[in-house]
Amino acid sequence: MLQIYSRRAKMKNLFGAPLHFLLLLASQTCEAVRIKSTPGASLEGFIQAKPDDTVSLICEITDTNLQEEELNWQRNGAAVSLTDTNKNTPSAVCITPVIPEDDEATFTCSLRKNSTASASVTLKVSYPPQLSGSENITIEEEEDLVLECVMKANPLVTAVLWTLNGSTVDLIGGGFTVTNDGQISRLQINNVDQSMHDGIYQCTAVSPMFPNSSKIFNVKVTERTMKFPLVPLIAGLVVVLVTSILAVVSRWRKIAKCCKK
Ligand SMILES: *[C@@H]1O[C@H](CO)[C@@H](O)[C@H](O)[C@H]1NC(C)=O
Ligand SMILES: *[C@@H]1O[C@H](CO)[C@@H](O)[C@H](O)[C@H]1NC(C)=O
Ligand SMILES: *[C@@H]1O[C@H](CO)[C@@H](O)[C@H](O)[C@H]1NC(C)=O
Ligand SMILES: *[C@@H]1O[C@H](CO)[C@@H](O)[C@H](O)[C@H]1NC(C)=O
Repeated sequence: MLQIYSRRAKMKNLFGAPLHFLLLLASQTCEAVRIKSTPGASLEGFIQAKPDDTVSLICEITDTNLQEEELNWQRNGAAVSLTDTNKNTPSAVCITPVIPEDDEATFTCSLRKNSTASASVTLKVSYPPQLSGSENITIEEEEDLVLECVMKANPLVTAVLWTLNGSTVDLIGGGFTVTNDGQISRLQINNVDQSMHDGIYQCTAVSPMFPNSSKIFNVKVTERTMKFPLVPLIAGLVVVLVTSILAVVSRWRKIAKCCKK
């Protein structure tokens, strides 16, 4: 997750970038060190990013008397190991790719010999729920149907809506159950009925930050096909067979008794 630029790559990145790119860099200024980031940080020290983005952080010693000092980097308080050539100002850390778990991760750069001389930035990783497309489902009457929509998002979705043919599903009269475990919303129907449950289902995630997203399920309820009940049939045959053998045996005893007479 963490990749430390070599000095050469860093130089290229610092000076090979177009001017407008460099102007976008925001600075976090403390007394002795500061962090420049791409993308730029807000005044509060937050960097907005999406999963799969690349975020690069460059720490500089601003105090001209401390230019030879070594720097340390930490991610949420844990040391980030640096190559020898990356320990002096400017020192660079690259987060590539950004992953959802990087949300709220704080990167701190400090002077090795005086950790109070430090600067920090915090990542904010936001992404919408990944709902899209449609799915075709064919199900027989009396079977159980479960539809699932993954709601994983940051910030969390504020609502999940389920519709059937465009109307909100009727939780009271329609035999539907909706459950949510924070990540997945499930619509469940036990014992589907063609007249009540056939149609177009849609789940919609309402996000406080992103446009609504949704997924469609085309559910076709078909008539129940007669399934050949093989096991009960065999059991039945065995019973019939055993009964007739017993009948013959008891009859044979009677016949045998007769003959003894
Ligand atoms: C450590 O750094 C802080 C902040 O820059 C500074 O105020 C302090 O004097 C420094 N301490 C030493 C021992 O250099
Ligand atoms: C669903 O069925 C329709 C026709 O009923 C078809 O056009 C479509 O490609 C199918 N979609 C999928 C994902 O199989
Ligand atoms: C939903 O619409 C389809 C197609 O118009 C229809 O066949 C089905 O019966 C409708 N479902 C319900 C529960 O009204
Ligand atoms: C999202 O869905 C909710 C509920 O249907 C609706 O009130 C809202 O306007 C929608 N937002 C957008 C951006 O479409």
